[in-house]
Amino acid sequence: GAPVQADISKLEPGQRMTVEWRGKPVWVINRTPEMIERTTALGADRLADPDSKVPQQPAYIDGELRSIKPEIGVIVGICTHLGCSPLFKPEPDADGVGVDNWPGGFFCPCHGSRFDLAGRVFSNVPAPTNLEVPPYRFESDEIIVIG
Ligand code: FES
Repeated sequence: GAPVQADISKLEPGQRMTVEWRGKPVWVINRTPEMIERTTALGADRLADPDSKVPQQPAYIDGELRSIKPEIGVIVGICTHLGCSPLFKPEPDADGVGVDNWPGGFFCPCHGSRFDLAGRVFSNVPAPTNLEVPPYRFESDEIIVIG
């Protein structure tokens, strides 16, 4: 499939938008400094693959935030368990997540898998790997090309 463009000029800090790429939902998240802080502060003991050793992202993506720019996350919105679409629960202790000390991220309603705001999978959930980061690049500060 052809690459798609995402115009992020109106994506406010703290918000998430969805772009369709190859029939898949791709989330673009504008993480606030506070969200970045919460994500990078997560202990490895809470995450199944904190350093993304299982390749779920292009080779040029690394680090805890799994992104080119710290604030902008680009993540395929499909649960790595059985393919449901996780819910955006960006705030700590969001209702309905069902875990203590929820740091904010994505929650899959199908079987309860949880992911942080970088798409990293928490320990002790059914999903085996982090969410996928698609190939992408910045055409400009406001335009991302996915694919
Ligand atoms: Fe997401 Fe099963 S499909 S937890």
